[in-house]
Amino acid sequence: MAEQNPGISTIFSHLPRVKIAHLPTPLDEMPRLSKALGGPRLFIKRDDQTGLAMGGNKTRKLEFLVADALAQRATTLITTGAPQSNHCRQTAAAAAKFGLRAILVLAGEPPEDWTGNLLLDTLLGAEVRWTGPRQWEAVMAEIVEEERDVGRVPYIIPYGGSNPIGVTGYVAAMAEFLEQLEQRSLQVQRIVLASSSGGTQAGLVVGAKAFGFGGRIEGISVDKERSVLREMVLRLAAKTAAYVGLRSTFTPREFTIHDEYVGQGYGIMGEAEREAIRLVAQTEGILLDPVYTGRAMAGLIDLIRQEIYHSDETIVFWHTGGTPGLFAYRDKLL
Ligand SMILES: Cc1ncc(COP(=O)(O)O)c(C=O)c1O
Repeated sequence: MAEQNPGISTIFSHLPRVKIAHLPTPLDEMPRLSKALGGPRLFIKRDDQTGLAMGGNKTRKLEFLVADALAQRATTLITTGAPQSNHCRQTAAAAAKFGLRAILVLAGEPPEDWTGNLLLDTLLGAEVRWTGPRQWEAVMAEIVEEERDVGRVPYIIPYGGSNPIGVTGYVAAMAEFLEQLEQRSLQVQRIVLASSSGGTQAGLVVGAKAFGFGGRIEGISVDKERSVLREMVLRLAAKTAAYVGLRSTFTPREFTIHDEYVGQGYGIMGEAEREAIRLVAQTEGILLDPVYTGRAMAGLIDLIRQEIYHSDETIVFWHTGGTPGLFAYRDKLL
């Protein structure tokens, strides 16, 4: 049930937002995948098609983050991630689009082969700094000082773009999604998505509460234990609700997290992800990625096979992007 909250238009009208994303993203049915799994009716929300240098979930977050940066007269976007970070690639693209500098602080040492997202970072004109053995916070703080010393205005975008400003993009996404359901008279019991810094899931849960989506929103953890990720998502949801002016409160029960699929950890692709990527590619012609959506789809497939998800349900897989990462996993995918 929707709470006593302001209407959709008033929720976003006071928040600065730039237009970057191609919206609404398609909501498509996946009948051949559904048949292959002997399972529920399956749909896919194509946030890999949001635009901005090959798309992904960060486009929606960046609409609000870049607007805030511009309002603060920032000259330089600084952010951080793994060497194959989709978030960093999309931040580099957003910076280019708005005439800003991008400095990406990537974890570890430079690899030999600059492929996938890392190749795109350089094409997009971002400056890449490697943390080596240091913590990224220390490296970012140093860069902030450097930028200020030469008269520039740095703007830090947190890991995954997951602060209340960025997460607002996914509150708005829920409004868009509910409109699509209404137009097509669809009833959806579950949304399943990859969850890592928790921002996408948090935004959808806030939106669900604000606009009255009654289904479950289930995060497949990419890299964290259930209790850790649940706490992160809950905290982000509460802060985001307050940021957009909603009076919502949340309990841990509202955040479903599956942590059985983290395998050997972040970025380590196993047989389950390989199978999921091939199955979706070969039944629907849709590409997933090795780190996030491949893992989330592997979880969805397993939950269907275990009959935890029932064949009479309608389930939406929320595709969060990441496909440029495929090229960095060439040897493991062939
Ligand atoms: C392709 C893709 N899917 C899912 C996620 C996870 O989203 P969130 O960090 O909002 O949980 C990311 C985050 O980097 C991503 O790049």
